[in-house]
Amino acid sequence: MIVGVAGSGLMGSGIAQATAVAGHRTLLRDTAPAQLDKAHAAIRKSLAKLVEKGKLIGEAAEAAQGRIELTTELGALFDADLVIEAIPEDLALKNTFWGELDRGARSEVIFASNTSSLSIIDMASATSRPDRFLGLHFFNPVPLMPLVEVVRSVATSDASFEFGMRFVRGIGKEPVASRDTSGFIVNLLLVPYILDGIRALENGVASIPDLDLAMRLGAGHPMGPLTLADFVGLDTLARSGEIMFQEYRESRYAAPPLLKRMVAAGYLGRKSGRGFYDYRHDPPVPSTLGL
Ligand code: 3HC
Repeated sequence: MIVGVAGSGLMGSGIAQATAVAGHRTLLRDTAPAQLDKAHAAIRKSLAKLVEKGKLIGEAAEAAQGRIELTTELGALFDADLVIEAIPEDLALKNTFWGELDRGARSEVIFASNTSSLSIIDMASATSRPDRFLGLHFFNPVPLMPLVEVVRSVATSDASFEFGMRFVRGIGKEPVASRDTSGFIVNLLLVPYILDGIRALENGVASIPDLDLAMRLGAGHPMGPLTLADFVGLDTLARSGEIMFQEYRESRYAAPPLLKRMVAAGYLGRKSGRGFYDYRHDPPVPSTLGL
């Protein structure tokens, strides 16, 4: 099968890596050549890490890298059997992409969005194939996280949904079926939890490291909520919360003021070098944030 991946950021490059490791020829498309270069380097580094950890043999990593073709051409995706979109969480931007792809792609091609909080039907209805449109929601870091949410909208056909489930199993990941409601399963539960962690900090319950340590050692989480917020990206987190707030009108999804102020300051977490922790230090140190 040929898999097209649109968007070569953190998620898109991870998805392309996973499909290539599973043996699919993978076309990774981005509009920005510099971003494609970054994705290429990130995939190489991640594959090398997996080899170093004994999770992949060297030949398999080389073969996977060889199955990934980088392109800036939308038309390259017309050759794919499945296109997974991982471009920024902006409905207008996504629907411009889907409209253009829909006009060029064969009618049997399945479309899947990796959106974390937008509605699948809002994108599917911008195409001529809402029955062949579903959500495939991966988790960061894609090469290590085994889950994919397979999301069926009101219009997704049984055949397309089953295709999604089989595809996910085929790339060695575990599918869970979710309905097309904002946040699906994981973010519906995870985002308000992280936002509660930020509210606890705002309310002076505990310090940044103590909040994280408490949830690691007291609840067995691999990362505390504030480390996880930095890991997900504070802009992404705020945006997911706002989209869910618009859908459910429940205050637990609303971005706390501290989060909004940090995004305004350009403190976006690990990717910008600063968030609840300051990553310019090794190891990172907690930020003061005027608290
Ligand atoms: N590729 C290959 N290797 C990678 C990698 C990648 N992309 N990312 C990390 N690794 C490596 C690390 O470099 C590390 O290697 P090292 O031991 O040599 O330093 C190794 O994996 C293991 O890392 P850790 O030692 O930190 O071990 P952990 O047991 O903590 O595993 C983790 C790392 C899997 C990231 C774990 O901390 C975890 O599960 N964290 C929570 C992640 C999570 O919740 N993700 C979901 C976010 S929500 C989301 O994605 C939805 C979206 O819509 C917002």
